[in-house]
Amino acid sequence: MTVPVSPPGFAPVPRPVPAWLVQRLRAAGGQVSFLTFMEWVLHDPLHGAYGRGRLRIGPQGDFVTAPALGDEFAALLAPQIADWLEQIPGPLALVEAGPGEGQLAAQVSEAVTRQWPALARRLELVLVEPNAGMALRQRQRLAGCGLPCRWVSFRELAQAPVRGVILAHEVLDALAVERIVWDGVDWRRQEVALVPADDPSPQLALTAGATLEAAELEPLLALMQGQPPPGGLPSSWCTELHPGLAPWLAEAAAALDQGQLLVIDYALEAWRYYAPARANGTLMAYRNQQASPDPLQDPGEWDLTAHLCIDSLEAAARATGWQPLGGCRQGEALLALGLAGRLHGLQRGEAGPLAELLGRREALLRLVDPRALGDFRWLAYGRGPGTGAPPRFLQEPDQS
Ligand SMILES: C[S@@+](CC[C@H](N)C(=O)[O-])C[C@H]1O[C@@H](n2cnc3c(N)ncnc32)[C@H](O)[C@@H]1O
Repeated sequence: MTVPVSPPGFAPVPRPVPAWLVQRLRAAGGQVSFLTFMEWVLHDPLHGAYGRGRLRIGPQGDFVTAPALGDEFAALLAPQIADWLEQIPGPLALVEAGPGEGQLAAQVSEAVTRQWPALARRLELVLVEPNAGMALRQRQRLAGCGLPCRWVSFRELAQAPVRGVILAHEVLDALAVERIVWDGVDWRRQEVALVPADDPSPQLALTAGATLEAAELEPLLALMQGQPPPGGLPSSWCTELHPGLAPWLAEAAAALDQGQLLVIDYALEAWRYYAPARANGTLMAYRNQQASPDPLQDPGEWDLTAHLCIDSLEAAARATGWQPLGGCRQGEALLALGLAGRLHGLQRGEAGPLAELLGRREALLRLVDPRALGDFRWLAYGRGPGTGAPPRFLQEPDQS
């Protein structure tokens, strides 16, 4: 049985569904889980927004990430990465998963090569990017990189695991999520369906599909910590689960013998993520610097992203061999890594054209703005000998 549901807060606009998607959905019986839909529209090599490299990151693109604001973010992050790398002898790897336009990888490599030349001589840059369309642009961006570079999958890396640091900046929010709906009586898996099913020009609709099994619900109910009882939720309350996290973390663990993983992303504690008031989860669509709660519009053109749940991430990390090292908000992490000092240097009028100084100041302030990038979470994990120390970004800012 399928029951159409419209998440509160928006009215989907009827639009033609691309022929490839109609064909896929019909081949799958007319509807698929939201998870499958999200996987297709983001990562399909021919039609997906990342898969074919359509999405552009930057002020002129679809959305902005911290490294797209300039190299201040990488300059502040580099000492943390160098700190971790310096504790490991022998050949090292800086692995970036989901490098997007390759900006962060390029900027951090440049900072490490300039400031820690001895470390750089032991270091290679490893890019893990499943989407060929994105990898193509990363290769162009990193053509002049001072470090040896290679593109591999985690599975390939696991053949000869590396030691070093894995950086996951705004990548885990691109993993497909499961959406589930409380219909007032039962929990149901959200699906994306063609309606009317046999119409030559069907539309897409979000529908509440099969009832979830008790075992499937267990993780959610544990995260909700028994409150409120489902009966206390409004009918059509909808949220996300993250079944892709544990497999991703397991693959990353198999690729790294010793070192740290730093996840930087929008993330919420379970009690905030699964609060009754958050009636439509966290899923958002982005395109041309616009945000929309409608995940069905122009499939394959928009980025779809969901926040991480910190408790789910931590449980998945522990289960896959990662030791949590702590976390905090980006604003706090960047202050601990010296953001105030950089800002102070700019205020004192360090050498450089005024427009450039103002641009750098604006970028620094945006990185710690608590209503935007400053609210990102930095979450660190370690594996292997000698990797359990609290990260530098959790220590008091250096006052010297
Ligand atoms: C929002 S972009 C992040 C870009 C970059 N890290 C930055 O900060 O600008 C997401 C990137 O993750 C990639 N991606 C998606 N799924 C992935 C996966 N399972 N493993 C690694 N990368 C993935 C996308 O193709 C894209 O390059």
